[in-house]
Amino acid sequence: MRVGVLTGGGDSPGINAALRSIVRFGAKHNVEVFGFLEGWRGPMENLMQPLTTADVSGLLHIGGTILGSSRTNPFTLEGGPECVVDTMKANAIDCLVAIGGDDTMGVAHHLSEYGVKAIGIPQTIDNDIAGTDYSLGFFSALEAITDALDRLHTTAASHHRVLILEVMGRDAGWLSLMGGVAGGADVILVPEEPFKVDSIFEKIKRRELLKKRFSIVIVAEGASPEGLNGQVVDEAEVDAFGHMRLGGVGQYIANKLSERMHIPVRVTNLAYLQRGGSPAPFDRILATRFGAAAIEFALEGTFDVMTALHGMKIEAIPLGEALKQTRPVPAGLTYLIDLFE
Ligand code: F6P
Repeated sequence: MRVGVLTGGGDSPGINAALRSIVRFGAKHNVEVFGFLEGWRGPMENLMQPLTTADVSGLLHIGGTILGSSRTNPFTLEGGPECVVDTMKANAIDCLVAIGGDDTMGVAHHLSEYGVKAIGIPQTIDNDIAGTDYSLGFFSALEAITDALDRLHTTAASHHRVLILEVMGRDAGWLSLMGGVAGGADVILVPEEPFKVDSIFEKIKRRELLKKRFSIVIVAEGASPEGLNGQVVDEAEVDAFGHMRLGGVGQYIANKLSERMHIPVRVTNLAYLQRGGSPAPFDRILATRFGAAAIEFALEGTFDVMTALHGMKIEAIPLGEALKQTRPVPAGLTYLIDLFE
C-alpha cells in the first residue's frame, strides 16, 4: 500500500512525531509513505517526496512539520480537487492522511466525493475540533502559556501592574481557560462569552481591596467586547478558508482600563511563541497513537474518518460527523472562569 501524508493549516508541536509514527508503523506493515509538501499545495502541484524511516529519525521531539504547511484550499481554486485526484493517480497513492485543523479536515472530507480515500488526524493548538477529546498540539501550547503566565506573575508583582496576556483561540477558549487555570490568571476571557470591560475593572478593584497590588488577565484573541459587535481584527484580509487575522483584543482592553486605572496596564501577545517549540509528552504520545491508528485504518480500508481520542481509546469517527459540530469550551467547564470569585 502507498500512503500519502500532508500537514495543513497552522502548525503545532507534535506533527513531526505523528509523521514519524506513520512512517515507522507503516514500514512494519509494508506500507510505503510519501510526504506532500506545503499542505494542500503538495497534492495540487505534485510536490511529493518519499518518507523513509531514516527521514523521520530524530523527529519525536522536534516541533513544526518537516513537510511545511500552508492554508491552500483546493476548493477555492479552479480545477483544484481534480488536480489532487490526478496527483494521487499519477503517483499510485492509495490513501491520503491529512494532519491539520478543521479546515484541513473539511477538505479531506469533501475530497471523498471525488474518490479520494482520506483519513484525518486532528491537529490544532486551539483544540476546537469536535469528536475528539483533544487535538494534537493543545497541551504543548498550554505549557507555553503556563510558562508565560508564571513569568508575568513575578514581574507584575514587582511592578504592581495589570498584565494582559493575549493567546490564540479564534472561536473556542480552550487555551485561554485551561492556560488561565494552570497559570493562575485573575481574569479569564474566552470567545464563548462576550466580556464587559467594566467587569474586568471591578475584579481588579476587588483584588486591590484584598491588598493584591497586581492582576493578570488572559484573553483569547477571539474574545469579543460587548457592544463592539464582533471580534477585534488585526487584518481584514481573509485567507483561503474565509478567516480574518484576529489580534489586538489585549490592547483594546488595556486602552479601556488605562482610562480609569491608576496602576499601569501592559500587554503581551504570546502569538507564535505558543505554537512553536518541542511537543509536550502528552502530544508525543498522542501523535504516536494517532499516526499508528491512521495506518491501521488505511490497512483495514476505513476511510473518510478522523482519528479521535475517547478517554483512553483511539477510535475512527466519520469526518462528516466531526465537521458538523463546533467545539466550544463546554458549559460544564466555564465555571472555572469564576471559581474563586
Ligand atoms: O491554527 C489556528 C490558529 O492557531 C488560530 O488560533 C489563529 O487565529 C491562527 O492559527 C493564526 O495562524 P496564522 O497566522 O498562521 O494564519
